[in-house]
Amino acid sequence: MPKVGIVVGSIRKNSFSEQLGKNIVELLPEGYEAEFIEIGNLPLYNQDSDEDIPAVYTTFRETVKALDAVVFVTPEHNRSVPAALKNALDVGSRPYGSNVWNGKPALIVSHSPSNLSGFGANHHLRQVLAFLNMPVVQQPEVYIANVHELLGEDGKITNQDTVGFLQSAVDALVGLVTKYEA
Ligand SMILES: Cc1cc2nc3c(=O)[nH]c(=O)nc-3n(C[C@H](O)[C@H](O)[C@H](O)COP(=O)(O)O)c2cc1C
Repeated sequence: MPKVGIVVGSIRKNSFSEQLGKNIVELLPEGYEAEFIEIGNLPLYNQDSDEDIPAVYTTFRETVKALDAVVFVTPEHNRSVPAALKNALDVGSRPYGSNVWNGKPALIVSHSPSNLSGFGANHHLRQVLAFLNMPVVQQPEVYIANVHELLGEDGKITNQDTVGFLQSAVDALVGLVTKYEA
């Protein structure tokens, strides 16, 4: 059964990112499994830890290694990727030569409470994932605007057009999983 990791770029409780992530899980086809990947517990990476590896790094790397695909759902922090998300990408990319992200199909979903939709974060993340050798869904690009108006009190997306659009993005990711597992 293919396993999709949901990596949430925000580490605050009940973030819009997490709520969007839960909606996206519902759109995965039958037979797919989803797992939210904890990133808020990872100490800030530095190369000394390649010698004395923190146990949480090992757990994180093993968890990512077992995934078949990754969905990144992220806000934008100062026109880029939140530091916690960049740290998680760095932790998974090292020690040199053992990048656990390698070859895993990915979908990027960015959002903001404004019309900007996290465009800067979305494209900075694309740049990093290119180097980490992750085949990323190119179309559709997913920029969610006015996220605070999109989610009901139960955390569900209220706009069915948005649900349909996200479904098309998830379908594109599933297409990549099928292609790369073949
Ligand atoms: C440090 C910081 C920097 C931010 N920078 C941006 C930004 O560059 N662009 C933007 O659209 N929103 C920015 N925001 C606002 C976030 O989009 C907003 O807080 C969003 O709700 C966070 O998503 P979350 O609910 O998933 O945490 C910033 C927020 C923080 C805390």
